[in-house]
Amino acid sequence: MRRKLVVGNWKMHGSSTSIDALVKGITSAVTDVASHVDVVVAPPFPYLAQVKALLKGSTIDLAAQTCSANVQGAYTGDVAADMLADVGCRWVILGHSERREAGESNALIATQAVAARAQGLMPILCVGETLTQRQQGNAVDVVADQLAALIPALTEDDVIAYEPVWAIGTGETATPEQAQSMHASIRAELKQYRPELAEGMRILYGGSVKPGNAATLFAQQDIDGGLIGGAALNAEDFNAIVMAAQD
Ligand code: PGA
Repeated sequence: MRRKLVVGNWKMHGSSTSIDALVKGITSAVTDVASHVDVVVAPPFPYLAQVKALLKGSTIDLAAQTCSANVQGAYTGDVAADMLADVGCRWVILGHSERREAGESNALIATQAVAARAQGLMPILCVGETLTQRQQGNAVDVVADQLAALIPALTEDDVIAYEPVWAIGTGETATPEQAQSMHASIRAELKQYRPELAEGMRILYGGSVKPGNAATLFAQQDIDGGLIGGAALNAEDFNAIVMAAQD
C-alpha cells in the first residue's frame, strides 16, 4: 500500500510575513492527519530556513524547488544540494515544466537528481506533456521519453509527479480518467525497466488540483497524491486537499 503524499509548491510567491501565516495555518490543521498522509512544502530558496524553523515539532517536511547539478564552485545563482540538506530540506522538486520551459533538459534533470540523492535529498521528478503534444496524440510518448532519462538512476525514495503542462495554473484539470491512464502508463514503464520499484513508487498528479477535485483524483488506483501549486498558497484549500488524501 503506497502512502499518500501531498506537496505544496509555492513557486515564486510569498514574503516572510505571508509565509509565516501560511505555515501556521497549515501546521495547525495538518498534524491530525499526519499519520495517514505525508505532507511537504516547497518555499522559495530565501524562506527555506524560516519555514524549517516554523515547522519544528510538525511532521511536515521541507522541499526546495530545484537544485544545481554541481556540487560546489563558481556557479553564480545556483544552489547546491548539500546546502539544501544543510538548511533542513528532505526533498527537492526537479524538472518542473516551468524550469523545462526555461531550458532544462532531460539530461540535466537526471544529473540534478544524482546530485540531490548524493546529499540524501529525495527527488520529486516532474514529467508532463504540452497541450499541442496531447492534441497530436503524443502525450504518452513525450512522458515516456522524459522518464527514460530518469529511470536508470531511480531509487525507491524518489517520487514521480505527472503534471500535464496544459493543466498547470490554468484551472483546467486532467479528468480522473486521463490522469489515471497516464499514471498507469508511467507505472507500466517502471514495471518494464525497474520492476523492483514499480509497485512501491509514488506517482503524484499535479495541475489545478483544488479542494473540489482532489478526492476523485486521489481515489484513482495509480494516483498517490498531488503536487499542488495555486491552491497550496491558501492554508484552508491546502488543508482540504491534504484531508482528501486520507485513505
Ligand atoms: P497548479 O500548479 O496547482 O497551480 O496548477 C501545479 C504545479 O505547477 O506544480
